[in-house]
Amino acid sequence: MDDLIQNNKLTIIGKLTASLLHEVRNPLSAIKLNLDYMKMSEKELSGEIVESINSSLEAFDRINHIIADILDFTKKTSASLKGTSINKITERALEIIYSTAAKKGILIEKHFDENLPPINAIENKLLQVIINLINNAIEASSNKSKIIIRTGLIENSDVRKIKWEVEDFGCGIKPGDVQKIKQGYFTSKSEGSGVGLMVCKSLLDEMKAEFLFDSVYGKGSKFYIIFKV
Ligand SMILES: Nc1ncnc2c1ncn2[C@@H]1O[C@H](COP(=O)(O)OP(=O)(O)O)[C@@H](O)[C@H]1O
Ligand SMILES: [Mg+2]
Repeated sequence: MDDLIQNNKLTIIGKLTASLLHEVRNPLSAIKLNLDYMKMSEKELSGEIVESINSSLEAFDRINHIIADILDFTKKTSASLKGTSINKITERALEIIYSTAAKKGILIEKHFDENLPPINAIENKLLQVIINLINNAIEASSNKSKIIIRTGLIENSDVRKIKWEVEDFGCGIKPGDVQKIKQGYFTSKSEGSGVGLMVCKSLLDEMKAEFLFDSVYGKGSKFYIIFKV
C-alpha cells in the first residue's frame, strides 16, 4: 500500500514537472528570440555586449538541454518493443555525434559482431541512450584520443545475451564518485546536469536491459548495455 501511494506520488510529480517545464519553455523561447535578434546587429555593438549575448545564448542552450532531458525522462512510452539491430542503431548514433567527436579530433573505432540476432528495443529510446553514452565518453576524453564501441554475443550455458559497450581512455571515475553516480543526478562537470545517466537507466529499465559500468580513475571507463536475446 505504501508503495502504491509512493508510486502515485511519483506519477503526479512527473506530470507536474512535465507541465511546469512546458510552461517554462515559452518565455524561454521569447528570451532566445530576443537574444538572436540582438545578435543580428552584432557589428554595431561593443565587444563586451556581444560577449554577454553569447554567454546568455550558451546558458539558454544548457537550460534547454536540461529541460529536454527531464521531459524525455517524464514522458511515458507508447512505443512497443520490437526486434532491431543494435549495430544499425549505433551507426545512426555515430552519424549524429560524429561532428562532436571530430571537433576534439577523437577517433571512434567500431568493433561490431556482424552476425548478432535482433534485440527487443524501442529504437528511438535506445538511440538516445547510445548517443548519451558516447557523448559522455567524448566529454571524458582528451583531444585526439580514441573511443572503442563493441557489440558481441555472450553465450553462457543456455542464456544468450547481447553486449554493447563503449570504452574511452579519458579521465575515468574517482572511486569516491562511483556510488554517487549509481545513486543518480550526480555530475562532476561544471556544466553538467547529472540527468543523462539517469535517463539512460530509466529507458533501459523500460526495455528490460541491464546497464553497467566500470572505470579506472585516470585511465578510462567502459559503459555496457546488456540485452537478453
Ligand atoms: N565516460 C565517462 N567517463 C568518466 N566519467 C563519466 C563518464 N560517463 C559519465 N561519467 C560521470 O557520471 C556523471 C553523470 O553523467 P551524466 O548523467 O551523463 O551527467 P553529465 O554528463 O551532465 O555530468 C558525469 O558527470 C561523470 O562524472
Ligand atoms: Mg552526460
